[in-house]
Amino acid sequence: MIAQANGTISITGIGAYAPERVVTNDDLSELMDTSDEWIVERTGIRERRVAADDQALSDLALPAARAALEQAGTPGADVDLIIVATVTADMAFPSAAAILADELGADEAGAYDLSAGCTGFMYAVAQGYGMLAAGLARHALVVGGDVLSRILDWSDRRTAVLFGDGAGAVVLDRVSEGGFLGFELGADGSGGPQLYLPAGGSRAPASAETVAERKHFVQMNGREVFKFATRVLVSSAEKVLAECGKTVDDVDVYIPHQANIRIIDHAADKLGIPKEKIVVNVERYGNTSSGSIPLALADAQAEGRLQDGALVLMTGMGAGLTWGSGLIEWTANGRTP
Ligand code: COA
Repeated sequence: MIAQANGTISITGIGAYAPERVVTNDDLSELMDTSDEWIVERTGIRERRVAADDQALSDLALPAARAALEQAGTPGADVDLIIVATVTADMAFPSAAAILADELGADEAGAYDLSAGCTGFMYAVAQGYGMLAAGLARHALVVGGDVLSRILDWSDRRTAVLFGDGAGAVVLDRVSEGGFLGFELGADGSGGPQLYLPAGGSRAPASAETVAERKHFVQMNGREVFKFATRVLVSSAEKVLAECGKTVDDVDVYIPHQANIRIIDHAADKLGIPKEKIVVNVERYGNTSSGSIPLALADAQAEGRLQDGALVLMTGMGAGLTWGSGLIEWTANGRTP
C-alpha cells in the first residue's frame, strides 16, 4: 500500500522509556560463546536494556505514553484512540492498549494492539493517521514497544545478542500546516518463516513438548533477514519519496529501524543519504523491535534535530516479513486545538 497523505496531521508529542538494567556485550560473553568484538563488528551494538522481572510491556509503555502526552499538552482523558504496536504484550489478551487506556484515564478511547513485528510502529502511525484523517479520532496515542528479552533463547548466540527492550510513544493531532506527507506499507508472508515464534499461538499451542523443544523463542535466519532488510529499507524509502514528489536530497532527518549498523549503512549508501542525516542509537539499545523508531525519534528530538519544517523519513522492517515508511514535514508547534 502506498498513499499520499491528504490531511494536516502530525506528531505533537514524543516519549520514550528504556528499562534501567544495562546488559553489555561483555555480560553476554559470560552467558554464551560470543565476544564484544564479534557483536560490535557484525552489528554495531555495544549494550542493550533488559526489563526487570516484574516489568511487562505496559509498564514500559506507560512512562513513554505519559511523556508524549505531556509534551503534546494532551490530558489522558482527551485521548480517543490508543494503538500499541508490539509482539510482546503483557498477555495474549486483554491488549496492552486496553491496560494502558485504563492507566491513563483514557475512558473514551478505542484501544487495541497491532502485530507487525519490528515494523509495528510504522503500521500503527499510519493507522492512527488514517483514523484522524477520517475524523474517527481527534487525539491518538501510538505506542511502539517490545520486551523481546522474554522471547529470546538466551542460549542462542545467533539471536540473543541482537535485541533489547524498550518503548516509545507519539501523540498524533491535527496541525495547522505540515505533518505527514505519505506512507508506504508492505508485507510478504512468504518470508514469515525467516523470523518467527513457532509456538504459543493456535497452530502450536503451549505444551510440554513446545517448551522442551524451545519453540517459544524467536527463530531467525539471520542472512536471509539481512538481505531482505537491506532491500526493503531502500525500496520502501524510494517509493514513499516518489509518491510525495520528494527526493532523497530533500530529506533532513532519516530514522531507519535500528536493527544493525551494517543494514543501516548499506541502506543509507544505496539511497545516497549522508551520515550526518541519519539517527543511530543501535549501539546503546540493540534492536528494540517496535520501540526502535520512537526511541530514535526521542533521541533526535533531544539532540535538537527535529526542527520546524524538517523533512523526516522513517522506515521500519521486520517479522511478517513486513516493512513500512512514513514521510513527515516536522511541525514543532503547529497544533490546532
Ligand atoms: N558471537 C560469535 N559468533 C557468532 C555469533 C555471536 N553472537 N553469532 C553467530 N556467530 C558465528 C556463526 O556461528 C558463524 O560461525 P561459523 O562460520 O563457524 O558457522 C559465524 O559467526 C558467521 O555467522 P553468520 O550467521 O554467517 O554471520 P553474519 O555475518 O550473517 O552475521 C547476523 C549474523 C545475525 C549479525 C546478520 O546475519 C544479521 O544482522 N542479520 C539480520 C538480523 C536482524 O537484524 N534481524 C532483525 C530484523 S528486524
